Amino acid sequence: MHENLQALPLAPSQDYPKRDMESGTLNIPKKPRQKKSSKFPVCLLAGIVIICAVVLIFASIVLRPRNPDVKISSVAVKKLVHGTSSSPFFNITLVAEITVTNTNFGNFKFQNTTGSIYYGSEVVGNLSIPEGRAGARAEEKINVTADVKYHGGSGMKNLSSDINLGLLELNSLAKLSGRVRLLKIMEKTRTQEMNCIITLDLNRDAVDNLACN
Ligand SMILES: *[C@@H]1O[C@H](CO)[C@@H](O)[C@H](O)[C@H]1NC(C)=O
Ligand SMILES: *[C@@H]1O[C@H](CO)[C@@H](O)[C@H](O)[C@H]1NC(C)=O
Ligand SMILES: *[C@@H]1O[C@H](CO)[C@@H](O)[C@H](O)[C@H]1NC(C)=O
Ligand SMILES: *[C@@H]1O[C@H](CO)[C@@H](O)[C@H](O)[C@H]1NC(C)=O
Ligand SMILES: *[C@@H]1O[C@H](CO)[C@@H](O)[C@H](O)[C@H]1NC(C)=O
Repeated sequence: MHENLQALPLAPSQDYPKRDMESGTLNIPKKPRQKKSSKFPVCLLAGIVIICAVVLIFASIVLRPRNPDVKISSVAVKKLVHGTSSSPFFNITLVAEITVTNTNFGNFKFQNTTGSIYYGSEVVGNLSIPEGRAGARAEEKINVTADVKYHGGSGMKNLSSDINLGLLELNSLAKLSGRVRLLKIMEKTRTQEMNCIITLDLNRDAVDNLACN
């Protein structure tokens, strides 16, 4: 017991010579200690910066809402009746396959919308797109039936020559609006216009060309 008690006060006295020894070679042991203590926060800081950069890149890619792509991917002619160049008219039924391409990392839920089909400057048909949903980084295809007819108006002269040529150009316009949901935490409204030109071959009752932009 007494020996132990004596050992305690002795301990600091044993340290004194050690400290003296260290002070003698003061610069040598302290320098590596300083390097170690300064390297650690630098690594920690670099790590934080790298993590922040990764999070920012991730957020800018994953959380950035993109406009979906909306276009007519194909058209089928269900019915095509047209007059002659002396009595021009047309009455057409088309089935347009609309493709909504969603490049977002989340669902795109779109509302129903009504687009218009133009012959020249005149509306000749409606394009009713029902509401739907395109999954994350996925495509949604919808078939839409449109009745297109023209029996007179300011474009009569043009229709007369178009029937002569055998080619009819119809312009389909629609605006699709919906909400993009990202990581189940963020919702953003996005609107995309569809603008397609359908060229019909009146001699073959078929689609000659389809171009969307
Ligand atoms: C156009 O075609 C539809 C379906 O075949 C028909 O019901 C309608 O009467 C036609 N319209 C005209 C103006 O010819
Ligand atoms: C969407 O559908 C609702 C009901 O089904 C209808 O009342 C509304 O007019 C439609 N909107 C468009 C733009 O077609
Ligand atoms: C007739 O065609 C011409 C030339 O393509 C065009 O500029 C004009 O707007 C057309 N007219 C109508 C009424 O669509
Ligand atoms: C398009 O739809 C509107 C409203 O439903 C209607 O009044 C119009 O006649 C339609 N146009 C054509 C060309 O079918
Ligand atoms: C749309 O209709 C065409 C035939 O007219 C068919 O080949 C296609 O699979 C249909 N697409 C959808 C999404 O139903």
